[in-house]
Amino acid sequence: MPGLIWLCVLLILSCHDGVDGVTEFIYNGFARSKLHLDGEASISKHGVLSLTSSSCGDSSFTQGHGFHPEALPFVNSHGVSMSFSATFVFSITPSDSDTSGDGMAFVISLAPLSGTWTDGQYLGLVNQDDDGGTLANRFFAIELDTVANWEFRDIDNNHVGIDLNNLTSAASSTAGYYSDNVEKDFHFFNPLRLSSGKPMQVWVDYYEMQLNVTLAPVPMNKPSSPLLSYYPIDLAKVLKNDTKSKAGVPTTAYVGFSASSGDWCASQQIFGWSFNLYGPAKPLDLSLLLPPLKQVQDSSRQEAHDKKKVVKWVPATISSLAILAGITTCLLFRWWWCKKRMSERNEDWEAELGPHRFAYKDLRRATNGFDDNQLLGKGGFGQVYRGVLGNSGMDIAVKRVSSESKQGLTEFTAEVIILGRLRHRNLVRLIGYCRHKVELLLVYEYMPNGSLDSYMHTQTRHTMLSWCQRLHIIRGVACGLLYLHEDWEQVIIHRDIKASNVLLDGEMNGRLGDFGLARLHDHGADAHTTHVAGTRGYLAPELTRFSKATKATDVFAFGAFVLEVACGRRPVGFNARGELLVLVQWVRDTWASGSGSILDTVDPRLDEYAADEAELVLKLGLLCSHPLPVARPSIRLIMRYLDGDLPLPEFSPEYLNITDVDQVLDEVPPSVANSITGLSGGR
Ligand SMILES: *[C@@H]1O[C@H](CO)[C@@H](O)[C@H](O)[C@H]1NC(C)=O
Ligand SMILES: *[C@@H]1O[C@H](CO)[C@@H](O)[C@H](O)[C@H]1NC(C)=O
Ligand SMILES: *[C@@H]1O[C@H](CO)[C@@H](O)[C@H](O)[C@H]1NC(C)=O
Ligand SMILES: *[C@@H]1O[C@H](CO)[C@@H](O)[C@H](O)[C@H]1NC(C)=O
Ligand SMILES: *[C@@H]1O[C@H](CO)[C@@H](O)[C@H](O)[C@H]1NC(C)=O
Repeated sequence: MPGLIWLCVLLILSCHDGVDGVTEFIYNGFARSKLHLDGEASISKHGVLSLTSSSCGDSSFTQGHGFHPEALPFVNSHGVSMSFSATFVFSITPSDSDTSGDGMAFVISLAPLSGTWTDGQYLGLVNQDDDGGTLANRFFAIELDTVANWEFRDIDNNHVGIDLNNLTSAASSTAGYYSDNVEKDFHFFNPLRLSSGKPMQVWVDYYEMQLNVTLAPVPMNKPSSPLLSYYPIDLAKVLKNDTKSKAGVPTTAYVGFSASSGDWCASQQIFGWSFNLYGPAKPLDLSLLLPPLKQVQDSSRQEAHDKKKVVKWVPATISSLAILAGITTCLLFRWWWCKKRMSERNEDWEAELGPHRFAYKDLRRATNGFDDNQLLGKGGFGQVYRGVLGNSGMDIAVKRVSSESKQGLTEFTAEVIILGRLRHRNLVRLIGYCRHKVELLLVYEYMPNGSLDSYMHTQTRHTMLSWCQRLHIIRGVACGLLYLHEDWEQVIIHRDIKASNVLLDGEMNGRLGDFGLARLHDHGADAHTTHVAGTRGYLAPELTRFSKATKATDVFAFGAFVLEVACGRRPVGFNARGELLVLVQWVRDTWASGSGSILDTVDPRLDEYAADEAELVLKLGLLCSHPLPVARPSIRLIMRYLDGDLPLPEFSPEYLNITDVDQVLDEVPPSVANSITGLSGGR
């Protein structure tokens, strides 16, 4: 029987091996294939391609490459990139369980990779002395990376990335896949550990400059949503040999795999590979890959086997009553064992992969059944309850978000999962979430000192925030916003900065909450309504016109917030005579009027404050509230003004006086390029 299967393997291999012409091939196992091997790469007698050997011993730096022997016409004679599609099954097994091992890459390069390049983190793609740019290594690669290298701005130690001529990925994502829920419209992110030793399948689809990368555990079918989708990539440009005269565009390139092992040893194996230059790659026949796959799985199989033995042994020897008892014991043991493993795994993932998915009943228990006594507040998105997690005793705040639009909620959930990866000392951390019917429950860390709003505007508070505390909070919020706008891998527009969204932790640090949440409105709103999320007084003038949130609209809201904290008044409120008072105008007019000083607007409840700091803060608040988006400083600049690294530019009150904002805005449309939250792309 096994002989027959192997005969089939050989037959299929022999008829596919290169016979389909130069543009399509399928390797259901690599036995007898004519791959171009280099370095440590080898093909076992079962047809498994190993890129490096797992026993690295003393010579710790090893690498290997396996390439299809013929160059393929990736670019036509007019310099236009051809589409292609590829799929392969791989596994990465670290040599000892404590380390993750180094990763590997699927590569298209001008020449088959070879040579004496060193060090694990370079994945066998580049020499550490020439990271990209040189003619020898024009390449396009999908990296399956298991080490976080800060020099390449890796997002974590378990990610899939798209590399264009250098190892700083153009796009990357934590390894995993989106499963297609029964509800169809909802894609739930399931993390995968690349270096688990388990076989996984990758699909790479490139069509009209769009590149999709999809990952799934074997033997799952291809998930319908890709893990990574990137546009545009022009393969012809990526592979262009700069030194070549005239066009310099190559027409052919080589395709294959590359890996290296450095301080962390691992064995990277490929079991099968299908490729097509002009259409979808033929699906791999997993049953043909199975014999070698079985070997890899042996170790994990062994564990399961041992467990089964116990299950069988107990009932077989004793009477039927004992059988029952035995089964019960086993079920209990299994339950305990699974639970233990689950919780361990969750801890792992939590540390690296973002928010935890909670069970609804746990959150209900934590909040005493969403008891009214636990209510912390009501926001634009729903109620917030205080809770205590049963197993850890951790204090949490649970926000119940509901939406009329189910579609909106499901799309939004995917973004929430991304938002959960954000970590910054000036952001309220999103610990986890739970989706229950039409509700999304968001679990945040609990902020013992509540919202800034209650300190600013509630008369019953005994404690008045001092000037020092206020300045510290403003700096903290600026720092958090800087992280969202510039320092994270994607630009996050907060969209709803205001005093009630600034929370105070135990040390009275200001922390931004609800980041990205205003997006829910976007997902929910239908195309014809121009609903703008945000709060009156914090809304930039162009936002009400163009409904397009940008970094500049966030800065406007930040300006309103800064004035609010310094003056102790709401952005839009009433003065003692009951007249409407727009804070920005009032501060500006007080400054402009010859009789007064800008410092007259400082919160009268403050007994003492540093006059130079107060002046800086007030003027900065005004500058951020400039009617024209282009006139507002970036958050990085704001940070430097606040830190005293740069003096605030000199300006007069008239600078802020644009009488006909609408007319000017028509001439200067706001930048729309940077309005990205969550999933929608890079900066
Ligand atoms: C590396 O590639 C990225 C994305 O293609 C690009 O933005 C970056 O400038 C490159 N870095 C270097 C050092 O070439
Ligand atoms: C990539 O994925 C998107 C979303 O699923 C899909 O619309 C698009 O057609 C895919 N493109 C390719 C090249 O597969
Ligand atoms: C790039 O062009 C130069 C000059 O023609 C040539 O020497 C070099 O081999 C080319 N590089 C590759 C990878 O083809
Ligand atoms: C802030 O919270 C901490 C810890 O709960 C508490 O000790 C402190 O008194 C609070 N500060 C104010 C000003 O309420
Ligand atoms: C701004 O313009 C308005 C209308 O032209 C004028 O009444 C006001 O005095 C100006 N304010 C300043 C500060 O120049």
